[in-house]
Amino acid sequence: MKKLFKPAIHILCLIPLFILISDWLNDELTANPIQYLTLSTGKTALRLLTLSISITPIIFLTAKRDLNPARKLLGLYAAFYAALHFSIFVGLDYFFDWELIYETILEKPYVLVGFAAFSILSVMAVTSTKGWKRRLKKKWKPLHRFIYLAGILVTLHYIWLVKSDIREPLLYGAIIALFLLLRIPGIKNVITKFKNRTDSAKAAEA
Ligand code: HEM
Repeated sequence: MKKLFKPAIHILCLIPLFILISDWLNDELTANPIQYLTLSTGKTALRLLTLSISITPIIFLTAKRDLNPARKLLGLYAAFYAALHFSIFVGLDYFFDWELIYETILEKPYVLVGFAAFSILSVMAVTSTKGWKRRLKKKWKPLHRFIYLAGILVTLHYIWLVKSDIREPLLYGAIIALFLLLRIPGIKNVITKFKNRTDSAKAAEA
């Protein structure tokens, strides 16, 4: 079962890409293919980022350490879809017009925060290797906590561009904020004490 865990995550994370390729091959990229590709890759990147962020609190609450490899894989796939999202914007939407891209990043706040989130995700992806972990030593963990900032920036990016119905981006924002709250030492201590108490009560019952 343990052996199937990583391949299962790879398959799950690649499904959205296969769907996009199948849509392209079957001419089903809608009347506005660039927008369809941008929205699909953006949404997938956000979903995987949220899942990646959820792993640490889930391990903390359930003590299931086996889930650990999922955090890195989900984070890497989030960065991969974010890179696709950005490449579509740069290549298909703006035809590599770097001057216009630079102006748009500075002029449109939602693009600026999206770009900031993408930069954070890229740094996380590059420094996720064992080599970088060794090189950065104690700095590695604090650096990788910036993943929460990336989550918040992507939520802002999403809220800014939908304009009317902001329920969905707010939902992602609330989930990320909740996971962030669970990392605050005071809150973590209260939960740990509660867990210890219920564990001892269970042990006494057995
Ligand atoms: C340089 C970086 C980025 C640029 C230039 C960018 C650009 C865009 C654009 C132009 C749209 C709107 C498409 C439309 O309404 O036609 C969009 C939507 C979106 N982007 Fe980004 N983005 C960036 C980074 C990110 C990152 C890093 C993520 C997630 C990790 C992300 C997630 C999303 C989501 C969730 C949507 C909305 C999808 C929907 O409405 O269904 N973006 N982005």
